[in-house]
Amino acid sequence: MTDLLPEPQAVCSPITSSVIFIVATVALGAEAADTVRGWCGDVAALTRTVGKRVPDGKLSCVCGFGSTAWDVLFGAPRPMQLHPFREFGPEGRRAPATAGDLLLHIRADRMDLCFELATQLCTALGDAILVVDEVQGFRNFDMRSMVGFVDGTENPAGRKLTDSTLIDSEDPAFAGGSYVMVQKYLHNMTAWNALSVEDQERVIGRRKLSDVELDDAHKPSNSHSALTTLTENGQEVKILRDNMPFGRPGMGEFGTYFIGYARSPSALEKMLENMFVGRPAGNYDRLLDYSTAVTGGLFFVPSAQLLEQLAERKP
Ligand code: HEM
Repeated sequence: MTDLLPEPQAVCSPITSSVIFIVATVALGAEAADTVRGWCGDVAALTRTVGKRVPDGKLSCVCGFGSTAWDVLFGAPRPMQLHPFREFGPEGRRAPATAGDLLLHIRADRMDLCFELATQLCTALGDAILVVDEVQGFRNFDMRSMVGFVDGTENPAGRKLTDSTLIDSEDPAFAGGSYVMVQKYLHNMTAWNALSVEDQERVIGRRKLSDVELDDAHKPSNSHSALTTLTENGQEVKILRDNMPFGRPGMGEFGTYFIGYARSPSALEKMLENMFVGRPAGNYDRLLDYSTAVTGGLFFVPSAQLLEQLAERKP
């Protein structure tokens, strides 16, 4: 079916230097639902309108819908694997689910482009939504995460990228779509920076300066890289990440906004389970000793074509 795959939204768009993440709930009532549905038909045009002015600005927008919102806004048929965010981990080390019906992932090489598009998209939605979280992120030096390690190295590329992220014949009505998980993390940088570089490398599972992966003899089974590596039938299961650092250094806030796209939520959930519960249970991700997840949401990203068509849909 791959040849006929509908045009996806900009899920696999190139790495950019700026981002705005917006998570919103949809207001109650038929009027709000009508506004959001109509807006689905305007997203692509608004993105073109803003992006055209800076042709090499790489502006893109991906929008996704949460499980409850899908039913209210669009009804049946629904994406086969869409469900609310599943929480993992014990008290004190938990991946919490937080409110969210709509996700906007706005990327560009300039923050003014992201800002303008976010303004246009939110203005068009008006009172039909209530923004519950908004984060502006930035690319940090040579692709380094807030904790100082290069982030994104093991992302899939080429054919593997689309195979890992885009729904195909397993759910034909939603082909070209994707699932996306977001989590906002806050880091205890004082505690993290108190570790030696060698200890930090054992937490991540890679060398800090060179980004080279630790070999099996030196990589702990509770390192981030070990616990997020999944295999199925001898093949590695990949997701696409575009995490961005954010924060307010003067106020002591240092964060990572995690975003992962996958063809199925189960890959994302297995990684979360390994990180927060542990593999085996108790052998959890040591990055969580220095990082707290404060939000969590799972969304379905319709293909670009379906997004336009949703404007006409009635539940
Ligand atoms: C505090 C938040 C996080 C930070 C700072 C972080 C950072 C990193 C870094 C530095 C790497 C190594 C380089 C690379 O391959 O990208 C990495 C790898 C990876 N992370 Fe994360 N990550 C975070 C959360 C997550 C979450 C929540 C997931 C999945 C649900 C995840 C999935 C992965 C995967 C799949 C890899 C590649 C593993 C491999 O194939 O070696 N990460 N992350």
